[in-house]
Amino acid sequence: MSTQSQSPWEEGNFSRFICTANHGFAPYAQEELRRTFGAVKSTVLVPGEVLLAGLPVAEEQVASMLQTEDPTFLRHIQPVQFQENAADSEQALERLLAFITNHQELGGSRVALQARKTEGAFWHENAASLKQYLTDKLEDLGCEWVVREADYIVSVFAAEETLYAGISKPEQNLSDWNGGAIRFQKEEGQISRAKFKLLEAEQTFGIDFRSFRKALDIGAAPGGWTSFLLERGLEVTAVDPAKMDAGLLQSPKLTFLRKNAGDVKFKEGEFDLLVCDMSWSPKLMSRLVSDLMYSLQSGGTAIVTVKLLHKKPLALIKEVIDTFERSRLQIQRSKQLFHNREEITLYMIKY
Ligand SMILES: C[S@@+](CC[C@H](N)C(=O)[O-])C[C@H]1O[C@@H](n2cnc3c(N)ncnc32)[C@H](O)[C@@H]1O
Repeated sequence: MSTQSQSPWEEGNFSRFICTANHGFAPYAQEELRRTFGAVKSTVLVPGEVLLAGLPVAEEQVASMLQTEDPTFLRHIQPVQFQENAADSEQALERLLAFITNHQELGGSRVALQARKTEGAFWHENAASLKQYLTDKLEDLGCEWVVREADYIVSVFAAEETLYAGISKPEQNLSDWNGGAIRFQKEEGQISRAKFKLLEAEQTFGIDFRSFRKALDIGAAPGGWTSFLLERGLEVTAVDPAKMDAGLLQSPKLTFLRKNAGDVKFKEGEFDLLVCDMSWSPKLMSRLVSDLMYSLQSGGTAIVTVKLLHKKPLALIKEVIDTFERSRLQIQRSKQLFHNREEITLYMIKY
C-alpha cells in the first residue's frame, strides 16, 4: 500500500544542502543530521567529507534546528537552490549566472562568492579560477565582493557532472568560511601548528581569553598554546615532560614544569583557565585532567582536545564527557574544529 500521504518529503517542506565534515568524518555528520531531522536522503559528493543531503524541513528552519542541536562533526552547510547537469558546461554556467543575477537583493550588498569543486569536476581548473570567472561575468550585479562579513554568500559547488549553487545569509551556513575551512596566516617563528586549534576555538566558541588571569596548560610542548595564552596576557603554568621552545622560556609570565601531568600538585582553585592538548589515550587523558580539576576555580573554563582513536567516536566522546561531568564540568560545546585532525575540542565550564 502506498504511504505517500504520510511522506515527510512534501513540497515546501523539503530542502537540500551540501554538508561538509573533516575528512573521514562525514558518516558521523550524517548521523547527526539523521538525529536532528529524522529522515535524510544523502548522496556522497566527496567520499568521507562532503554529502548532498535532502532534509524533510523547509530551508529556513535548517540552520536554527542545527544550532539548537549543535553538531560535533557537521562543519558547514550550504543550500542547494540551483542544480544543473554540466554535460554542456557552458550552458550550465550561463544558467548559473542567470540564477545569481535574478537575486536582486545582491545588488548593493556585500557578497562573498565561495566556490568549491570535486577532483574530477567538469570545471578542470581550480576553484579560485571558477570564482574569478563568475565574479568577472557578474560585474554588472552591483554588489561589493567581499571575503568576510558578507550580507550574502553565493555558494557554488562544481561536481563531476553537476553544478550546484545556493544563496544564503552567512549564519545559515554554520560557518561563513568557504566549506567551513577557517584559515589563519602562519606567523614568523610560529612554534607549532597546534596554535591554530586554540585560535579557532577562540573564534568558534567566542571565548575572550583576555578575561582570564592564570592558565594551566597540560601537555604544553613545544608551546604553541602557551605562546597564544601569553600573547593574550595570561600568566601560564605549562606542564610537559618534553622540551618547550627555548624562546618561550624567557617569558617572565611562564612557569614551566618539565614533568608528567600525573606528578604535579597545585593549590586549590589556583587557575581560572585549564587547557589540555595531550594527544593521548582519551580515557587516560580524561582521568588525568579530572584529577587536576581541583586546581581550576569554580566558574573557570576548560578547553581539552580529545583524540578519537578507534572506530566509535560517538561512544568514546560520550564516555569522556561523562568522566568530565563527574568532575563538575559542564559541557558548553563539543566540536570537531577544522584544525582538529583525528580529534575534537571540548569547551567546558566548572560549576
Ligand atoms: C600535541 S602535543 C601538544 C602541542 C601543544 N599544544 C602546542 O601547541 O605546541 C602533545 C604533548 O602532550 C605531552 N604529553 C603526553 N602525555 C603527557 C603527560 N602524561 N603529561 C604531560 N604531558 C604529556 C607530549 O609530551 C606532547 O608534548
